[in-house]
Amino acid sequence: MDLVNTEQAEQWALMAPTWVEMEGRLERTSGAVGRMAMDRLDLRPGERVVDLGCGTGPTTVELAGRVGPEGRVVGMDIATAMLDRARQRAAEEGVTNVSFVHADVQAHQFDEGEFDAAFSRFGVMFYADPVAAFANVRRALTPAGRLSFVCWQEALANEWMTLPAMAVMSATNAPPAMPEPGAPGPFALCDPDRVRSILTGAGFATVEVTPHNDHVTAEEGDIENFAGSALRVGAAGRGLKDADDATKQKAYDATVDALRAKVEGGVVRLARGVLLASARA
Ligand SMILES: C[S@@+](CC[C@H](N)C(=O)[O-])C[C@H]1O[C@@H](n2cnc3c(N)ncnc32)[C@H](O)[C@@H]1O
Repeated sequence: MDLVNTEQAEQWALMAPTWVEMEGRLERTSGAVGRMAMDRLDLRPGERVVDLGCGTGPTTVELAGRVGPEGRVVGMDIATAMLDRARQRAAEEGVTNVSFVHADVQAHQFDEGEFDAAFSRFGVMFYADPVAAFANVRRALTPAGRLSFVCWQEALANEWMTLPAMAVMSATNAPPAMPEPGAPGPFALCDPDRVRSILTGAGFATVEVTPHNDHVTAEEGDIENFAGSALRVGAAGRGLKDADDATKQKAYDATVDALRAKVEGGVVRLARGVLLASARA
């Protein structure tokens, strides 16, 4: 495999087992906005699509349904454990028009024009050189090919991430480490102007970046589960990585308390902010 994002490959190899274990819960934060990004591709039967950073493959399988049996979808990811689960999912669901490739999207040698569309749900924020990575993706698209992805707005627009991170801070007395602005990580593409400039720099045209803001919800009876999951990923997860059990318990209690304080009508609503980006090759 041609690999340039070595650090990300190592990190995702470590994180993959948690993602596989929590795949159902992650749908709650990603499912609806992923489908919005997919809708923007307006896929037609028979089209060929690549799912960039496909993870455990829920979107790859959904894309396969949208292009029908005559179409073809390739899920691409840098972490083999994610792809193992994705292949298992496709087999379980009897989906045969998908395949999965272990690759670093930035360095992978695509065939020129092999896809009609490229899609990603939160899988394109981890490139050391985003212009090079998106230029590589563009080369893989037909001249009329389309790109559509969803990525996170800044942390402040995503209370479902900042609330647990603040709880970790209160338990550890230290702010969770965040990557430098623009560095590979969940918020690397949070600035719409930067996204436009990266995509234009990569040769894409008709670039549209649309902010979308809504809420992640959790039922009151599910708060404990929500807190447990939220503390295992992202900045909160990193902040607790080396913590002792007492500190972890403190962070968990603080998260549950903060969530309970926000219950209204039996439901907690936490702000979620994403960018929907689309472009033409
Ligand atoms: C936040 S997860 C999203 C996974 C999936 N799209 C989903 O929505 O469930 C990011 C994914 O991107 C993959 N990834 C990160 N850098 C990559 C790269 N350079 N090439 C291919 N995949 C990459 C990770 O392994 C991970 O599976």
